[in-house]
Amino acid sequence: MNIILLGAPGAGKGTQAAVLAEHYNIPTISTGNIIREALRTGTEMGKKAKSYMDAGQLVPDDVVIGIVKDRLSQDDCKNGFILDGFPRTIPQAEALDKMGVNIEYVVDIEVSDERIINRLSGRRVCQDCGRPYHLVNLKPKTEGICDACGGTLVQRKDDHIDTIKNRLEIYHKETEPLVDYYKKQGKLSVVQGSDSVEDTMADMMKVFEA
Ligand code: AP5
Repeated sequence: MNIILLGAPGAGKGTQAAVLAEHYNIPTISTGNIIREALRTGTEMGKKAKSYMDAGQLVPDDVVIGIVKDRLSQDDCKNGFILDGFPRTIPQAEALDKMGVNIEYVVDIEVSDERIINRLSGRRVCQDCGRPYHLVNLKPKTEGICDACGGTLVQRKDDHIDTIKNRLEIYHKETEPLVDYYKKQGKLSVVQGSDSVEDTMADMMKVFEA
């Protein structure tokens, strides 16, 4: 099962991907998490990506396409995968098509900009595995600690209000056109992401189990 999750920053892609990955026992490929890890460990790619990421801008296509190509060639992707945060531009989607990967489902998670701002400003993420939580909506069992791996929860640098607004602007310009791109390929489903995590997941499962 090869899945792409589309949606604005903060639409809930990472949250839904974590549940789906567990349910279907397939890996999530989050380009954001891969880049943040490279940044944390100080690799060349991380250094190159840092200024873009901190400002809420997109990292250049060639860098991200290279990351995904490498990751998809690994053994654990043979039975399926969830792409979270890729593709994000038309050239990235075209590059994915050229890789010869058969994408079966593209699910767009729809959430208003206003709600996104509220969600992202309250988000905390695990610094080890990247799993997202929220100060009010989705608390961990123990404050400040990741339920999944025991890592420490931190606020992302790009989750400050001005950067969130910048990310949303870029989303509408660069990423939203992918909705039409995949509609034309007959692969697109849309789910409402403004409800609870459970309700969104239930709608999503209807797509996969139809
Ligand atoms: P990335 O890490 O991919 O960030 P993003 O797409 O901006 O998305 P987020 O991770 O912020 O949001 P999400 O939709 O996963 O929401 P989440 O589940 O966490 O990318 C970061 C940066 O990396 C980019 O800006 C760019 O610089 C670079 N990058 C990455 N990929 C790239 C690419 N392909 N090309 C170029 N550059 C790239 O949920 C958000 C919050 O809401 C959480 O607190 C969560 O608990 C809460 N929440 C979720 N669902 C619900 C719900 N239903 N009800 C209430 N609260 C909810």
